[in-house]
Amino acid sequence: MQLSNSSLLRTQAYVDGLWVEADSGERIAVANPVNGAVVAEVARCSGAETRRAILAAERAQLDWRRRPAKERADALRRIYEAMTAHQEDLARILTAEQGKPLAEARVEIAYGASYFEWFAEEARRIYGDTIPAPSTDKRIVTIKQPVGVVACITPWNFPNAMLARKIAPALAAGCAVVCKPATATPLSALAIAVLAEEAGVPPGVVNVVAGDTRAIGAELTGHPAVRKLTFTGSTAVGKALIRACADTVKRVSMELGGNAPFIVFDDANLETAVQGAIACKYRNAGQTCVSANRILVQSGIFDAFADRFTAAARGLKLGDGMEAGTEMGPLIDASAASGVRRMIREAVSEGATLMAGPDHDMKSETFVGPTVLAGVTPEMRICREEIFGPVAPLLRFDTEEEAIQLANDTPFGLAAYFYARDVGRIYRVGEGLEFGIVGVNEGIISNAAAPFGGVKESGYGREGSRYGLDDYLEIKYLCLGEIE
Ligand code: SIN
Repeated sequence: MQLSNSSLLRTQAYVDGLWVEADSGERIAVANPVNGAVVAEVARCSGAETRRAILAAERAQLDWRRRPAKERADALRRIYEAMTAHQEDLARILTAEQGKPLAEARVEIAYGASYFEWFAEEARRIYGDTIPAPSTDKRIVTIKQPVGVVACITPWNFPNAMLARKIAPALAAGCAVVCKPATATPLSALAIAVLAEEAGVPPGVVNVVAGDTRAIGAELTGHPAVRKLTFTGSTAVGKALIRACADTVKRVSMELGGNAPFIVFDDANLETAVQGAIACKYRNAGQTCVSANRILVQSGIFDAFADRFTAAARGLKLGDGMEAGTEMGPLIDASAASGVRRMIREAVSEGATLMAGPDHDMKSETFVGPTVLAGVTPEMRICREEIFGPVAPLLRFDTEEEAIQLANDTPFGLAAYFYARDVGRIYRVGEGLEFGIVGVNEGIISNAAAPFGGVKESGYGREGSRYGLDDYLEIKYLCLGEIE
């Protein structure tokens, strides 16, 4: 991997301001999803290193929380500036371990950096209230204080941005963090730790331990000094983490799986609907929680939409993310790719028709070509489960009520999208969809200024926006008596 600044590529864990090996001396291989080549070998931490990181965070946050908000804000701002300055190197590390095209990786780095910029600004606006008291001799005041040590568990699909949007608000609030990145993609997380260290974040405030998922997870969920756990990942793992956090009554925020409907009404602008659906479906090869999982198209526009969408999907260039012109990379590993292919086969055997994909010219088994399926029905597994791959199932509907009913017929509630121009319909459908995020005539909804999060089994809590600090703050009520 060619980097301008090779110190960004770290393979040791970062605990209490030190770069350390695992106690066992063991390492995990980080593989390039394109061809399985080993990119780096990273310290394989376990429970003991995690415990040390938690205790370091507990000590460090006592001082960090007392620092003036401006000081914390300045440190976050320096991380933002460093991420921006090193965007190219960080993008290369990301593509090497995750597989997404370099152009997308650059966008992710800018997206991740924007959370540091945003929360550098928000850090200075942690306000309390004064509340009218029920009697004349009392005053009621509230102040907001950091929750304490925060465990951040993050996925492999956005190894930089998902961690950035947890670390940035936590540090802004005055918390210290122990981060557990996905085993497949620890390098981007370790690179953030390098930049935090260079930005002057004190030892122990940011810790990163990669390795034995079960042992690290058990420590993070069981240790009483961890006061909050924030997780982005699957609903199944999220439920297990919520249960594990119950014994020590930790605050939890969960950004879990989705099953996003993407609805195209007859009155939509066909061109922008096709572009929006392509961007939403095939970004990161469909490996996002907010990816369109079911494309519902009204009868009057169905054929025109299906033809254009299929042509655009067929035109996407598959390849190694490091190569110029690549528009879609591989899936994270061979098992993910074979799971997606199995779903496609099942749908076809149940009556769906392949309009594009999944075959391709790439040699590696981690690739699945951009796939379009028509004749899909809501009962098929491909409509009920999160695909997490580049497959677009197309469904036909007739009325607005039917579209809303089909869209809401899922236990998930993260993101939904619809394209329409009638203002009444925009309000009716926007209000009727049971999802935390609704894109209206827009297929890409993520940005630091907006609250990201779901309802139902997609989780709770909001990341980014002015609400993003709330999950890291406790409200304390001061009751002042004897005021005459
Ligand atoms: C996710 O897939 O979990 C997040 C995607 C995003 O932030 O856009």
